[in-house]
Amino acid sequence: MAFRLDSSTVPPSFSNSTRQAKDRTSSMDNKKGPFKVLVTGAAGFLGSNLVDLLLGNGHTVIGLDNFQSGLSKKVYGDPSVHPQPEHYWGNVNPFGPRACYDEGKRAAEALFYAYREQHDVDIRIARIFNTYGPRMGASDGRVVSNFIVSALAGEDLKITGDGKATRSFQYVTDCTQGLYALMQSDYSKGPVNIGNDREFTIQQLAELVIGLVSQMTGRCKASIVYLPPLVDDPTVRRPDITLAREVLCWGPVIRLEEGLRRTIEWHINERRSD
Ligand SMILES: NC(=O)c1ccc[n+]([C@@H]2O[C@H](COP(=O)([O-])OP(=O)(O)OC[C@H]3O[C@@H](n4cnc5c(N)ncnc54)[C@H](O)[C@@H]3O)[C@@H](O)[C@H]2O)c1
Repeated sequence: MAFRLDSSTVPPSFSNSTRQAKDRTSSMDNKKGPFKVLVTGAAGFLGSNLVDLLLGNGHTVIGLDNFQSGLSKKVYGDPSVHPQPEHYWGNVNPFGPRACYDEGKRAAEALFYAYREQHDVDIRIARIFNTYGPRMGASDGRVVSNFIVSALAGEDLKITGDGKATRSFQYVTDCTQGLYALMQSDYSKGPVNIGNDREFTIQQLAELVIGLVSQMTGRCKASIVYLPPLVDDPTVRRPDITLAREVLCWGPVIRLEEGLRRTIEWHINERRSD
């Protein structure tokens, strides 16, 4: 999460003053910056990549992180509408193993809505879909890093379910560019999907990773094993990013194969430096 630390965009609870921002348009006048930006989770995967982008664009960054490690597009749950546009309200089981995470994201959006309505805080909400890339930790537990780590270690890649579930994978620089475009935009009406709208099955992802790792390391190809499906794991997920394309003039540009190659390269270097 990122907060621009000028007086009109800081929520009242974060501000030194009790003055409420009454004139939303005044915050828009100086949108190009440079700004002082507070990035929470700045030591993490997305946070650190966002910090790089902000610093590269001349902004000052204050990073906040408790090194607790991580915990999304989960507001949609197991969607019954495909692909998922922002106006779809989702299909979330509120009483299940994934409920805390999914409902937490939805509650955060509700709080932002309330701050905007009651305190006139200038907000932006990004709904980030599966993102991968350098600095996503080897033990992160998400499918891309799991597959890369297994393939590099010469272990079997474990697919939960039959491999036919689909996901859309966004390379991290596409994500941070989308977040930055949203921060710089005037669009504060509601959430904006930031993701890649090309869809792949988990089987396709596994085969791509296996092929690339073998090519890049010269080792034999790893194998795939199939485990029982996870409870409440969505079978499909793909963002409808029409809104982002329209209001932010933004769209993903890094193809999956290229993004995976860069990510594998990063993991190989990390293993060397360990
Ligand atoms: N990576 C993705 O694909 C993805 C997709 C959708 C949404 N998101 C969301 O984006 C955010 C960042 O994800 P990420 O992939 O970079 O995860 P990450 O685990 O790499 O980074 C999260 C960072 O937040 C820090 N943190 C956790 N609790 C904190 C607290 N109470 N105070 C200060 N710092 C705290 C952690 O130490 C960590 O450095 C998360 O909210 C995640 O749910 C990520």
